[in-house]
Amino acid sequence: RKLAIVAAPFSGGQGHVGVENGPKYILNHGLQSDLEEMGWKTSVENPLDNESMVKRMLADTVKDSYGRIKKPNLVGEATQLIYQSVGKCLSEETFPLTIGGDHSIAIGSVSAVLDKYPDAGLLWIDAHADINTLESTNSGHLHGCPVSFLLGLHKDSSECPEALKWVPGKLRPEKIAYIGLRDVEAGEKKILKDLGITAFSMYHVDRYGINTVIEMALKAVSPDGKSPIMCSYDVDAVDPLFMPATGTPVRGGLTLREALFLAERIAETGKLVGLDIVECNPALAVHDLHVIDTISAGCAIARCALGETLL
Ligand code: ARG
Ligand code: MN
Ligand code: MN
Ligand code: MN
Repeated sequence: RKLAIVAAPFSGGQGHVGVENGPKYILNHGLQSDLEEMGWKTSVENPLDNESMVKRMLADTVKDSYGRIKKPNLVGEATQLIYQSVGKCLSEETFPLTIGGDHSIAIGSVSAVLDKYPDAGLLWIDAHADINTLESTNSGHLHGCPVSFLLGLHKDSSECPEALKWVPGKLRPEKIAYIGLRDVEAGEKKILKDLGITAFSMYHVDRYGINTVIEMALKAVSPDGKSPIMCSYDVDAVDPLFMPATGTPVRGGLTLREALFLAERIAETGKLVGLDIVECNPALAVHDLHVIDTISAGCAIARCALGETLL
């Protein structure tokens, strides 16, 4: 079993510096050797590690906006590089574990998985729906918009920035399910409703329990249990008590055990074909303990989703 850690040290989809250091911290925490011990043959890919990209990520002075949308060119280019890297992994029968960076990077990773597995179901674990469109976004941050691009909601729009036109946008609304939502904007609620998207908020987690919620989510994206599964895991799904160092924390989230249980149950399906872990931002920790809590929880989610069991 081969696995590539695709490092995506990218912060251009939102406004906080520091989230680009997520991959470095997670690798320093020993994730690669932990996965090796679990039996994975691992490698690390660095698709954003080329001179022009590094220069552009640092060059804040370059004007890169499109109406209210912030950094469409940078996000378009970075996500395309991630798309190509994840695509290459998949063509070599290597499992792609993409480490963010902010959640805009899922435009690349999920698109690549859907190219390889058109019938894949997508589990989006997050406090946020990240389904804002270019019209509905209030912040202009593209990490709040990846799902609308994956769904192709901008495909025929003259409003789509040139740099993001490469996105295939093939995700079908019935193939995505959310878990953990608790900060969804009015415009996003309308899109979810209009498209009939399956979404389990923290209300549903409380009402049914996490075990029933994951079963319902899996059933929704893979009714016969045979579809490949892609999981895009935003660590802010987890309560900030356990996951403090993240850019858009929202109280009232998953407990650490609920968060790990989701990952364990997803692994148990044997159908996982790709995983993102995003939005760990060590720079937002108030003290060192926050960094350790956040990074160790992020690593634990990855290990659990990749087969680590308690017994
Ligand atoms: N809904 C807000 C926005 O569009 C917050 C999005 C937070 N997304 C995230 N990946 N943490 O700006
Ligand atoms: Mn989020
Ligand atoms: Mn997110
Ligand atoms: Mn504290």
